Amino acid sequence: MRVSVVGVGHVGLSTAVCFAYLGHEVLGVDEDAGKIAKIVQGEMPFVEAGLGEMLREQLAQGRLRFSTDVAEAARGQDVIFICVGTPTEPSGKPDLSQVQRVAQTLADALDGYAVIAEKSTVPVGTGEAIRLIVAGGVRPGIDFDVASNPEFLQEGHAIRDTLEPSRIVVGTSSERGESVLRELYAPTVEATGCRFIATDIAPAELVKHASNAFLATKISFINQVAEVCDASGADVGIVAQAMGLDGRIGPSFLRAGIGYGGACLPKDVQAFQYTASQLGVDFLLLSEVDRINRKRRSDFVAKIRSVLGGLEGKRVAVWGLAFKPQTDDLRNAPGIEVASQLLSGGAAVVAYDPEASEEAKRSIPQAEFSSSPLEAARGADCVAICTEWPEFAEVNLGDLRAVVTQAVVVDGRNMLDPRDPYT
Ligand code: UGA
Repeated sequence: MRVSVVGVGHVGLSTAVCFAYLGHEVLGVDEDAGKIAKIVQGEMPFVEAGLGEMLREQLAQGRLRFSTDVAEAARGQDVIFICVGTPTEPSGKPDLSQVQRVAQTLADALDGYAVIAEKSTVPVGTGEAIRLIVAGGVRPGIDFDVASNPEFLQEGHAIRDTLEPSRIVVGTSSERGESVLRELYAPTVEATGCRFIATDIAPAELVKHASNAFLATKISFINQVAEVCDASGADVGIVAQAMGLDGRIGPSFLRAGIGYGGACLPKDVQAFQYTASQLGVDFLLLSEVDRINRKRRSDFVAKIRSVLGGLEGKRVAVWGLAFKPQTDDLRNAPGIEVASQLLSGGAAVVAYDPEASEEAKRSIPQAEFSSSPLEAARGADCVAICTEWPEFAEVNLGDLRAVVTQAVVVDGRNMLDPRDPYT
């Protein structure tokens, strides 16, 4: 089939590359000419395991093309995916201007029937708004359908989550639109046995916000349990492990630490609460989830301050800046905020991250950067772990003790074993 993808950020590029891999003719479009220039050379604009190889393979096969012209995405396609950004305003209101702009351009350029499928995370009601924009601009006689097809991929697992999704959700009021998307996803459903959930547009839009808000709730819940554990001397890891063995609770997203970051969970918690409030629903639980998450970061810095007897003049090694391992993404990353708070408290910060250091230099220019965890720790009064990169667990704690000034590790990701004789 012929597929176009507008917006080649994490979701869009993964979608484009994976659909090409599955044998479709794919056009990826982004107005960012610099980004497209890199991608057509086979260079990845972000870190995502395996995606670069797959991109280069599909470019070579000729099934995958890129352009900076959004109108091109509207011509001669079976399915047009909208994957542009939906940032939140300070009030929590999702900024849908990019989605609206794309819908307008598609309306003007559409030259035949296509399904316009919304993959960006949007509040309920956006699909209908897109339909109205396109209907208002499209040439007479040209038919189209709008569908919501939320994406559930996790950064670092984009290929797995796209080719072997936990579920495929398609929301549309049109039988024709549904059957086009059924056909597109049939090989994936056949190969993996995953559920294809066909529904109206509103439930499909809500699944995404509800899922991300629930994942964030699980994390804030276990982080609050961690506070009780700290106060009573219990190990939250054991509590979480035993809780997770109950099939109704499940083991994932129960890792206590300095909280969630990234481009999705923080934004979607706020956006879902805002959307609910617009519909007259006071989703107060979500403000608590958000509050607990923010407090984890300042509590972590307070713990370092208290252990060191103040921050002024102290040297702190920050291990990990990316919002999670296997990515260079610094959006809403706890490590960046912790480093900033340490710096404003008067500490010197020496940071190390295997992937995100270059980008981080722009966010925390007053920090020093090191090329290894041990180098960062040399002469430090404290090592603060902010991202659970596997290489941190491999650092020999005896070697660490030999280079630091004070043997203090504040483990914001609970990745070290407190029973290790060196901890
Ligand atoms: C998240 C969702 O997991 C995806 O399903 C969704 O598709 C995606 O957002 C999106 O909306 O596009 P992602 O942002 O890649 O994916 O990151 P996660 O793996 O969910 O991690 C988010 C944050 O939670 C990270 O900072 C991570 O360190 C933290 N986390 C995760 C915890 O603190 N504890 C846990 O137990 C799990």
